[in-house]
Amino acid sequence: MQSSMSKGAYDSHQLLSKVATNNGHGEDVEYFDGWKAYDNDPYHPTKNPNGVIQMGLAENQLSFDLVKEWMINNPQASICTPDGVNKFTDIAIYQDYHGLPEFRSAVAKFMGKVRGDRVTFDPERIVMSGGATGANETILFCLADPGDAFLVPSPYYPAFNRDLGWRTGVKLIPITCESWNGFKITKQALNAAYEVAQKNNIRVKGVIITNPSNPLGLVQDKDTLKMLVNFVNDKSIHLVCDEIYAATVFSLPRFTSVGEVIKDMPHINSDLIHIIYSLSKDMGMPGFRVGIVYSYNDRVVTTARRMSSFGLVSSQTQHMLAALLSDDVFVQRFLDTSKQRLSRRHQHFTGELSRVGIECLKSNAGLFVWMDLRHLLEEVTKEGELKLWRVIINDVKINVSPGSSFHCAEPGWFRVCFANMDNETVEVALQRIRSFVSRGKMEVKPKASFRKRKEQMQLGRLSFNNRRFEESLLSPDSTIPQSPLVKART
Ligand SMILES: Cc1ncc(COP(=O)(O)O)c(C=O)c1O
Repeated sequence: MQSSMSKGAYDSHQLLSKVATNNGHGEDVEYFDGWKAYDNDPYHPTKNPNGVIQMGLAENQLSFDLVKEWMINNPQASICTPDGVNKFTDIAIYQDYHGLPEFRSAVAKFMGKVRGDRVTFDPERIVMSGGATGANETILFCLADPGDAFLVPSPYYPAFNRDLGWRTGVKLIPITCESWNGFKITKQALNAAYEVAQKNNIRVKGVIITNPSNPLGLVQDKDTLKMLVNFVNDKSIHLVCDEIYAATVFSLPRFTSVGEVIKDMPHINSDLIHIIYSLSKDMGMPGFRVGIVYSYNDRVVTTARRMSSFGLVSSQTQHMLAALLSDDVFVQRFLDTSKQRLSRRHQHFTGELSRVGIECLKSNAGLFVWMDLRHLLEEVTKEGELKLWRVIINDVKINVSPGSSFHCAEPGWFRVCFANMDNETVEVALQRIRSFVSRGKMEVKPKASFRKRKEQMQLGRLSFNNRRFEESLLSPDSTIPQSPLVKART
C-alpha cells in the first residue's frame, strides 16, 4: 500500500516518474512557511484578531461589488437561473477546443480596451488555458524542449519555476536587475545572462518578462520593450510577455503592450512574439481560471489550441464572461473604478509606510509594493533576510514575501500585497507595522560597518556581482534609496 511504503522505496526503485518525485513544483521550499503560518492562524477581526494577516497573495478584491451588481442585473448570463436555464443544453454538451466564438470575441475586445485600444487582437488567435499558469506552460511547451532555457529578469514571479519549468524541463536563467536603476532591464544584463547560457552549452529559446512586473509593480517602458524585441529578433529566439497585470496600471507612465510596440517595428519577425493574459488580476477572478495564449505565430496558435484540451475554460464560465465583457458600459466603469481604488489604496499604504521610515520602490501598477527593509537587516545575506522575514511572520503576524523567493539578487526587499483585504484589515496591518518599527528602533542591532557589510556580501550565498551596487553601498553619496529611518539614525 502506498501509505505504508517508505520514502526510500520511491527513491531507489523509481516507482514514480521524475516529475512526480522532483521538487520542481517548489511547494517544499521554506517560503511556504509563511503560508502555513497564515493557514494555521488566519486573522479575523472578531474571531481571531491576533491572527496572521495575509499580505502574500496578489488578489484584486477591491471592485467585486461592481461585478456582483452586474450579475444581479444580468441573471440570464448564468445558466443556473430561470432567466438563463434555456441555454443549459447548449452549454452542457461538449464544445470544441476553439472556445465559444462570442467568448473569444469578447476577450479580444477586452484585451484591446485594457491596452487603451492602441492595439487590436484577433479573436482567431485567442487560445484558452487554465489561468495564466496554464497559458505560460502551454507557450513553453510550444517553444522549447527539455534542457533549453528561457531568460527571465529577476526579481521574478516565484511560481515561474513551476509553471515554466517543472513539467516542460525548461531551465530559467535570471537576467539580474538591481536597485541602482530601479531594477530596469539593461542590455548589459541581458547579454550577460545569454552568455551564461552559452558558456554552459545551454540553448536559449527565449526571454520571458512580466509587464507590468510582478513583484516590482512597474511598467516596462517602450525603449526597453524595443530593446528586448530587437534582441530576440537578432538571435532568432522568442519573446513572451506576461501581461496579466495590464489593467492594474493606476498612474503614469501608462501601460505599453508589446503588441503596440511591434506595430512600429515592421522589420522584426512577429512569429517570435507571444502574449500571455488572464482575468485573474485585472478582473480579480483567479477562481474562474481564465488564461489566454495570444501568439502572432500561426503554428504556435494551432499547437497551443490543440494543447488547450488539457486546460479548457468551462463553457459556463465562457458563456457568462462573454456577456460580461461585451457590456461596454460595465467594462469601462469597472476599469476606471478599479484603477482609482488601486491607486487610492497604494497611495495610502505607501504613504503610511513612509511616515514610519519604510520606503517602497516607486511603482504605478500591480497589487503589491516592493518594500525596502534593507536597513533592518542584521546581515546582508539571504539568511539575514529570512531571519527578518520570520520576525515579520511570527511577531508582526503579517505574511509578506521575501525578495529571495523572487530570486532578487539583493537581500532586504519584500513584496507586500495590498489589494486582497478591506480597509479595516489594512489599518490593522499598518498598526502592526508601526509598532514593529518603533520596537525595532530600540532592538535593531547597530548597523555593521561598511567593511563588515562588504565582507558579508562577498561571503553571502547570493551573488553580488554588480560593482555599482557595491560601490554605491560604500559611497557616502549612495544612489540606493535610503529609508528616513536610516537617515534618522545616522
Ligand atoms: C506574473 C504572473 N503570471 C501568472 C500568474 C498566474 O495567474 P493565474 O491565476 O491566471 O494562473 C500570476 C499569479 O500571481 C502572476 O503574477
